Amino acid sequence: MDTNRLSKKIEDILNAQVTKEAEAAQIYLSYGCWADSKGYGGIANYFFRHSGEERNHMMKVMQYIMERGGEVKISAIKAPPKSPKNLQDCFEKTFQHEVDNTTAIYEIVNLAHDEKDWATYNFAQWFVKEQIEEEKLVMDLLDKLKIAGGPKASDESLFNLDKYLGEAPDEVPLAREASVDKPE
Ligand SMILES: [Fe+2]
Ligand SMILES: [Fe+2]
Repeated sequence: MDTNRLSKKIEDILNAQVTKEAEAAQIYLSYGCWADSKGYGGIANYFFRHSGEERNHMMKVMQYIMERGGEVKISAIKAPPKSPKNLQDCFEKTFQHEVDNTTAIYEIVNLAHDEKDWATYNFAQWFVKEQIEEEKLVMDLLDKLKIAGGPKASDESLFNLDKYLGEAPDEVPLAREASVDKPE
């Protein structure tokens, strides 16, 4: 008896997502090492923590495939792209990477919807919410860098930004949790 509750297409797209999350983890590891080499220990810490989050995402998708009786295929992952030119470039690339990942999640949602695979559709919603958070986190990074002076940021403001990011919370408040008493 076949107990696989996933279609071939869904199984394939989920396996591709496992690889994507693993690749994101590697990219953030590489950005963390790059930041550390430039003396930004706090920013390195930030990327290392986020690398761990991407590994957690990978684990969730992997577990879901198995839970539904599907077959997980662990594939090779690409080497991360070359190091960023500067902090602005680093944060912009991070943002673009998160947006690309959101697109990949939406493709899973679209396919699950087309196939009326409501279990996968429901599972993927966790990632839809997670991507709102991830994009917001990186938007905040870009905002903070802008406030620090962008490309003309002084050493002192970069020092403070680095210190802040070393201790910054990994969670961001979302609009859905806002109220008049607690706007953020
Ligand atoms: Fe992720
Ligand atoms: Fe992410």
